[in-house]
Amino acid sequence: MILVTGATGNIGRALLEELRACGAGPVRGLTRDAARVTFPEGVEAVEGDLGRAGSLNSALNGVRSLFLVQGMGAESEVLEAARQAGVEHVVLVSSITVQTHPHLPAAGVNAAVERLLKDSGMAWTILRPTQFASNTLWWATSIREHGTVHVPYADLGLPTIHPADIAAVARAALVEPGHRGRTYPLTGPERVTARQQVAALAAALGQELSLVGISREQAHRQMASFMGDETANAVLDLMGGDLNEELLKVRDTVPQLTGRPATPFRQWATEHAAAFR
Ligand SMILES: NC(=O)c1ccc[n+]([C@@H]2O[C@H](COP(=O)([O-])OP(=O)(O)OC[C@H]3O[C@@H](n4cnc5c(N)ncnc54)[C@H](OP(=O)(O)O)[C@@H]3O)[C@@H](O)[C@H]2O)c1
Repeated sequence: MILVTGATGNIGRALLEELRACGAGPVRGLTRDAARVTFPEGVEAVEGDLGRAGSLNSALNGVRSLFLVQGMGAESEVLEAARQAGVEHVVLVSSITVQTHPHLPAAGVNAAVERLLKDSGMAWTILRPTQFASNTLWWATSIREHGTVHVPYADLGLPTIHPADIAAVARAALVEPGHRGRTYPLTGPERVTARQQVAALAAALGQELSLVGISREQAHRQMASFMGDETANAVLDLMGGDLNEELLKVRDTVPQLTGRPATPFRQWATEHAAAFR
C-alpha cells in the first residue's frame, strides 16, 4: 500500500494519476476532508491531519511506502507514526534551497526534516525541487479581475518546475528499484522569468496581460500576508541578489529519472489557463 499525502495538491493530484496509470497496486490519498475530494478510480480517500500525527493511524495502517509533503505540520511525529505503522520507504518533498541557500531559515527547516528521515531507520528518497510553475496561481485573482500582474524582479529567470514532473519522479522513486538513499535536485527544462510567465499565460488565455514592476517593500506586503514575514524576506533576499549558480542551474534529473523531457512553463500555462479566467 502506498499513501500519498498532499493528495489534493499540485504534486499529489498528478502523482495519484501516475500511480494509477502504472498499475502500482493499492494507493491511498490523504486529505483533511474526504467528502470534498474526487480521486482517480481505485484510489482510496483517507482522512488525516499532518499537524496531528495521532489522526493518521488508520491512514497509515498497512502502508509500506509513503509520499510525504512537508511544511504541513508535525513532521517528527508523522515520521515516528509511519515507522511504528511499519512503513518501509518514505519519499520526501524537500527543497533545492537546502543545497543552494542553507543559511535561509526555511532551508534549515527542510534540512532538519531530511535529517529526521535519514535517522528514522526507514529507507528514504529525498526530492529537492526548485520553485513551482503553480506558484503563478498567486496571480490568478489579479489576472481575472484586472488583467494585471504585480511582481518584483520581473527579469530574474529561474529553472521553474512543473509539479507533474516532480510527481513523475516521485512515482519512479516509489515503484522502481534503485532510488533508496538518493537525493535528487529537480528543475524544469529552462530558466523562465516572471515577464515570460506572464507572456505565456497571456498566450494561453488569448488576452493581453500587463505586468507592473513593484518594489521590494510592496512585494513584501503582498507576500507576508500568506507566507509570513520571515519567509517573504528570505524569498525576496534571494530574488534580489542572493543568487548562485547552484540555484540557476538547469538540471537533467527529471529526464534521467522519468525517461521524458522536463515540461516547459508554457505547457503548464496551457493546461491551467482555466484557473486564470
Ligand atoms: N511552491 C514551491 O515553489 C515549492 C518549492 C520547493 C518545495 N516545495 C514543497 O512542495 C510541497 C507542496 O507541494 P504542493 O504544491 O503539491 O502542495 P499544495 O498544492 O500546496 O497542497 C498540499 C495539500 O496538502 C494538504 N494539506 C495542507 N495542510 C495539511 C495538513 N495539516 N494535513 C494534511 N494535509 C494537509 C491540502 O489538502 P487537503 O486540503 O485536501 O487536506 C493540500 O491540497 C511542500 O512540501 C513544499 O514545502 C514547494
